[in-house]
Amino acid sequence: MAVIAQKCPEIKVNVVDINPSRIAAWKTDQLPIYEPGLLEVVKEAHGRNLFFSTDIEDAIREADMIFISVNTPTKTYGVGKGRAADLKFIELSARQIAEVSTTDKIVVEKSTLPVRTAQSIKAILGEEGNGVKFQVLSNPEFLAEGTAITDLHDPDRVLIGGDQTPEGLEAIEALASVYAHWVPREKIIQTRLWSSELSKLTANAFLAQRISSINSISALCEVTGADVDEVAYAIGSDSRIGPKFLKSSVGFGGSCFQKDILNLVYLCEYFGLPEVASYWEQVVLMNDYQKRRFAQNIIHTLFNTVSGKKIAMLGWAFKKDTNDTRESAAIYVTDHLLSDMANVSVYDPQVPEESMIEDLNYLQTRPARENKEMLTVHQDAYEACKDAHAIAIITEWDEFKNLDWQLIYKNMKKPAFLFDGRNLLNHEELEKIGFKVKCIGKG
Ligand code: UDX
Repeated sequence: MAVIAQKCPEIKVNVVDINPSRIAAWKTDQLPIYEPGLLEVVKEAHGRNLFFSTDIEDAIREADMIFISVNTPTKTYGVGKGRAADLKFIELSARQIAEVSTTDKIVVEKSTLPVRTAQSIKAILGEEGNGVKFQVLSNPEFLAEGTAITDLHDPDRVLIGGDQTPEGLEAIEALASVYAHWVPREKIIQTRLWSSELSKLTANAFLAQRISSINSISALCEVTGADVDEVAYAIGSDSRIGPKFLKSSVGFGGSCFQKDILNLVYLCEYFGLPEVASYWEQVVLMNDYQKRRFAQNIIHTLFNTVSGKKIAMLGWAFKKDTNDTRESAAIYVTDHLLSDMANVSVYDPQVPEESMIEDLNYLQTRPARENKEMLTVHQDAYEACKDAHAIAIITEWDEFKNLDWQLIYKNMKKPAFLFDGRNLLNHEELEKIGFKVKCIGKG
């Protein structure tokens, strides 16, 4: 919304949220999320045509177009538990829009939703609306965290789905003309409603599938002596495959991939396609395996026990340049190590201690008190690594490349092990210093 406001000064953008502290934070220099370049965009438009408020009803009444951007987490209860998306926030938003609106509106689904949700939104708006007409569009977001602003400024494509009726096409055009302020027309793809909804799930499933595919090969490389980075380069040079998204890692994280695939799996099961469901589920299972394998490798290498040993984790965010920790591999690797009675000390440049503890508590593997006792969080990498038996690199933060690795080595227990979950560092140099290095997909 901040980028729309930046690029379309004549459009008034009201961002509303039920959470007053979040809204208050958007008006300061300490935005509620860390995203490079975002503060500058917000500052440019804030007070001009970008406004933040908790007055949801007023904003609904005033709007011609409403973007629903609430979260759709995986259901943790009842039917579809662990798989289906929980749509309660979407439903509440739709009901509120229906109750409050006094003029016709275009309602845009921005949250990632399972296919055919637009149908439910339409049903709610149609039943409750006071004679007001609504058009529902699907406009999934493809930005990646950490590069959100450049992705938004220069997207590969914008996708808009809507009813193929005259009113639907008119609504699609209204939204397309907003993006056309800065996105070339040929990049604005228009589809039917359900195709657009399904495309978002499919795009994320394909992207995650590439990572799980290369990660599966990393396991084979480790036992055979091939090098997964060489394999990725060799196959990525085939223009049909392409070089992007082939970086083997400790496992993908983030709020989208796992959730969207589980959703796809649920949809396939629901519509009686068990073979298709299990095909896609394998992408998530392979990712779980990769995280588990990484943790087990640490335990195995440290002479089959990490009990009472200090393991330093560099990075907690699910990727660099974000403070988002949702589904981060760090959570699962740490949980595994704590279950083996390790003392884990963490440093991440952006993630606060409370988030780390919350992430672990959410798993409910052990009492919250024990998580707090066994996890130590440091404000710098050198402290985190001091007296450690091993270091695990989980997030590919640039600053880890420029650490004084000689000094870190000097202050560690020997033999000093380093497990590079991102193949981020120069392993030959580290080995010259004295480190015993283990990385992903290298024999
Ligand atoms: C993803 C999609 O890229 C984006 O289009 C969609 O809108 C939301 O989901 P995001 O989750 O922000 O974006 O990050 P992304 O860059 O896709 O990375 C996801 C995870 O995969 C991270 O943990 C990342 O480290 C990992 N990854 C990515 C790899 O392990 N290897 C790769 O080659 C690429």
